[in-house]
Amino acid sequence: MATDDNKKGTDAISSVMSEKRKFPPPAAFSEKARIGSMEEYETLYKAAAEDPDSYWGGLAEEFHWFKKWDSVLEWDTPYAKWFNGGTTNICYNAVDVHANSWRKNKAAIIWEGEEGEQRVLTYGELHRQVSKFANVLRIAGIKPGDRVAIYMGMVPELVIAVLACARVGAVHNVIFAGFSAHAITERVNDSRAKLIICCDGTRRRGGSINLKNIVDEAIVNTPSVRSVIVLKVTGEEISMHDGMDHWWHDLMGLASDESEPVEVESEHPLFVLYTSGSTGKPKGILHTTAGYMVHAASSFRYVFDIRDDDIYWCTADVGWITGHSYMVYGPLLNGATLLMYEGAPNYPQWDRFWDIINRHKVTILYTAPTAIRAFIRAGDEWVTKHNISSLRLLGTVGEPINPEAWMWYHRVVGQEKCPIVDTWWQTETGGIMVSPLPGATPTKPGTATRPLPGIMADVVQKDGTPCGPNEGGYLVIKKPWPSMLRTIYGDNKRYEETYWSEFHDMYFTGDGARKDEDGYIWIMGRVDDVVNVSGHRLGTSEVESALVSYEAVAEAAVVSRPDDIKGNALVAFVTLKDEYEGDMKLREALRNHVAKEIGPIAKPDEIRWAKGLPKTRSGKIMRRLLRELATSNEIKGDVTTLEDFGVLENLREKEDES
Ligand code: WTA
Repeated sequence: MATDDNKKGTDAISSVMSEKRKFPPPAAFSEKARIGSMEEYETLYKAAAEDPDSYWGGLAEEFHWFKKWDSVLEWDTPYAKWFNGGTTNICYNAVDVHANSWRKNKAAIIWEGEEGEQRVLTYGELHRQVSKFANVLRIAGIKPGDRVAIYMGMVPELVIAVLACARVGAVHNVIFAGFSAHAITERVNDSRAKLIICCDGTRRRGGSINLKNIVDEAIVNTPSVRSVIVLKVTGEEISMHDGMDHWWHDLMGLASDESEPVEVESEHPLFVLYTSGSTGKPKGILHTTAGYMVHAASSFRYVFDIRDDDIYWCTADVGWITGHSYMVYGPLLNGATLLMYEGAPNYPQWDRFWDIINRHKVTILYTAPTAIRAFIRAGDEWVTKHNISSLRLLGTVGEPINPEAWMWYHRVVGQEKCPIVDTWWQTETGGIMVSPLPGATPTKPGTATRPLPGIMADVVQKDGTPCGPNEGGYLVIKKPWPSMLRTIYGDNKRYEETYWSEFHDMYFTGDGARKDEDGYIWIMGRVDDVVNVSGHRLGTSEVESALVSYEAVAEAAVVSRPDDIKGNALVAFVTLKDEYEGDMKLREALRNHVAKEIGPIAKPDEIRWAKGLPKTRSGKIMRRLLRELATSNEIKGDVTTLEDFGVLENLREKEDES
């Protein structure tokens, strides 16, 4: 999540974490890997840096083009045209290419519902359904360039809808099915979507959420919407309005299953995905066709070192960028088999993930640190009672992973034999930017390590000069890359200001980071999560890691509040493991622990016990809310993305009250 207030301070960010453990890739993994040593990585990285056109052009050669491009990159800061002059279709490359090959009968999607229902779609079947639904879109009057909003649970038809949009050249805007009617209205109006595709409902923890009712409420205020297509999933009662609402199955019944993919230009818009800034309305991040295709596919192949016999599971919802790039496009462009699960990770109990992995013999798991920390809290026995030895590679994404959570993932889930790829990227970057290559890069808990070949990531000072080893600064990307956002939908000015006003010719990520002596990039959190305490700049995620490394702590979030003497004081919101009780003695022990791990300057000034932390529906801790609570004990800002309102109440209790 990028922020609008990408403020930068004057001081260098001082990084004080000293993680020394290092894990070389297992020999058995390296032997079979596409890139099996650091030497190979270095050679590739150097070649791509020296001649990016050949590097990206070479990767692009692997796809089907109706017409080949004239130039790899045309760059007029900050506007990029990749593969200009070429025409292609990403759906054709993700589906038809495989359906027309020996992969026709290979599983593309293995789906499991919360109650254990299962479906398998082969590439051949996926091709048939996507072609049919593309014809449905045409019946609904959708033309190339039209925006289509998709508000569905995690069912295969969600993937079918996304791909069918791409097939006809429509621009999809997936809205996470946990968002409110207000959030839908805001997004649909910003993108002026003509059509909404939704489900009647989606299953969650044994019950269901009625999505159609939410859409009904949303579209009262969306003049651009002409029709709604409704997929029957739960069969619950909904109202269907004449002229406006149509059943998915009725329209599919009318449509032929043959449809030619539309030939689109390389820079034809593929999707808009909204991401929240810390202030202002959500930003519609615009991605276009060919460049996104090339990087989503090639990064997936390198980072997950995918094989034809892999069963790959990304636990992200398609409503987020991870779901777009590494649940849908990356795997399908590579002809991989992906697993899709509609349901909660702890339903009916805390072993659901491990049970799924065992039953489907999942080989690659890609999930988020927040999930890992929840599993740690639930206890190892939920994992160890299942045979999960099919796993060969693990990944994380979305936030810095605390070294102790990394170690648990490595030891308990990876059984010390699976490399971990900690992947750093953003909605804006479209694909993974910084990550280990699992057969090559020695990993260290807590760092996403080195940039991928072709990605010129660096850590710089305020004036744009590179930082020295371990000197904290700002993470930037110095050269354009194919899957970069092209603009904020309908708002070039905001695009230029948010990402290009700080360093002009370099993309500013909004993250603080340092590079260690091996050139590994350690993300220190958003720049606005970096605080100045007594003249020292501290990454709040480092203080959090220190807290979480203490035995009693399950999860921690650290924010700052203004302090007359120190400039800022640190306030830690701490969730304890079930068997622990928060008291003054534990507070003192925690402060001393942080002082020991980092230094006395990082000691939280206040520690509040929290039953849970306020999170967005994608699992990110809402530090903005915590900052407001820490400062004024009130919440004034927007809370529409909050997952569980209940957690806010007990966070108001100040230190002296418990
Ligand atoms: C953070 C998610 C540390 C970072 C793909 C970034 C990470 C923001 C990592 C983007 C990681 C993501 N280590 N921090 N491996 N991955 N982040 O747009 O602050 O939801 O700027 O994209 O998440 O979040 P977004």
